[in-house]
Amino acid sequence: MSYALNFGAGPAKIPQPVLLKAQKEFLNVHGTGMSVMELSHRSKPFGAILEKTKKDLTDLMEIPSNYSILFMQGGATTEFASVFYNLVAAKQDELKKAGREGEEIVVDYLVTGAWSSKAAQEAERLVPTVIGNPVRVHRALNVKALNGGKFGAIPPQSEWQLTDPKKHNVAYVYYCDNETVHGVEFQFIPEVDASVPLVTDVSSNFLSRPIDVSKFGIVYGGAQKNLGPAGVTIVIVRNDLLVDINIGPIRPLMLDFKTAADNDSMYNTPPTFAIYMVGLTLEWLKDQGGLKAIGNVNDRKSEKLYKVIDESKLYKSPVQPNCRSHMNVVFNLTTEELEKEFLKGAEERNMHQLKGHRSVGGVRASIYNALPEEDVDALIEYMLEFEKNHS
Ligand SMILES: Cc1ncc(COP(=O)(O)O)c(C=O)c1O
Repeated sequence: MSYALNFGAGPAKIPQPVLLKAQKEFLNVHGTGMSVMELSHRSKPFGAILEKTKKDLTDLMEIPSNYSILFMQGGATTEFASVFYNLVAAKQDELKKAGREGEEIVVDYLVTGAWSSKAAQEAERLVPTVIGNPVRVHRALNVKALNGGKFGAIPPQSEWQLTDPKKHNVAYVYYCDNETVHGVEFQFIPEVDASVPLVTDVSSNFLSRPIDVSKFGIVYGGAQKNLGPAGVTIVIVRNDLLVDINIGPIRPLMLDFKTAADNDSMYNTPPTFAIYMVGLTLEWLKDQGGLKAIGNVNDRKSEKLYKVIDESKLYKSPVQPNCRSHMNVVFNLTTEELEKEFLKGAEERNMHQLKGHRSVGGVRASIYNALPEEDVDALIEYMLEFEKNHS
């Protein structure tokens, strides 16, 4: 079978040169005579892989020296809990030191799609487990409430209700930079008071364009869309937010950022193969010219796809132009029957995993870093042909 055009949202396409390199090294990585999967995580060769991966990520993202890079497990979903626990702990620590124990802590969420919604729900679920301070989860932005019950928009910041940190103890402001299901992406970094850590989930647009890490308390994302295979989640955390495990809510060690940082992500056995694959993907990304260069390609790929959608009578984007994702391009056809026919025809043309998320239907073309521009061109050609045959 020939190479498939893979528009899957995740686990997603991995650059072919990365797969070929992994294949070449599969039985004998770096002259060890062993597969990377057979190496102890505490061995020298694996240590070198981990260090190189951290260095390449630091170089590519220009991560300042006061941040730690953690390789976590349990997917991005586990980070919904970790972010809550660790940052509530940091706030409790701060309040205790200021002699203000017992005061209410607020956590702000910007809910712009399915993933930020799930993160807010998880925080809400965990609120009763916090001892010592009442915690309140506040949806500072709830797009559905402002946009006729639907996602697909990001109203200007002037319409949000961020909690005032001068009047309340705000532990963090949380948002999802790119909502994978709804195809909504922030085109700016929210402005928050310097005293409040800003947290973002970049699972589906990690390393797709430059990002100013210094504006954030935490930037995190799962690897399986833009960075490698499933199994590892990368957390970039500002060091002043790392607090001792005995401070704040009781939390499993595996959710604790300081434990991970103190042990260089090796408190237990890390997902060594996934980390190795991330390392290869970062090397590939450097070969592409880094984040600015790949960002330009990603802009071009998404712009040409949106142009076809906007100029068509058959295709329609449910997302407002100022917040359309350049990674997950979602669109609908005029009827569900036509959508089914479109997807069937795509499969016949070797274009796969274009079906929209099961919760929203429609079509979703995930066009991550690894997807070549020619594959977007092939999709466009098919879209134009399909429209011509159905007008
Ligand atoms: C933006 C975003 N956040 C979180 C998740 C959850 O990731 P995981 O399945 O690794 O827990 C996903 C998965 O698709 C996602 O797209």
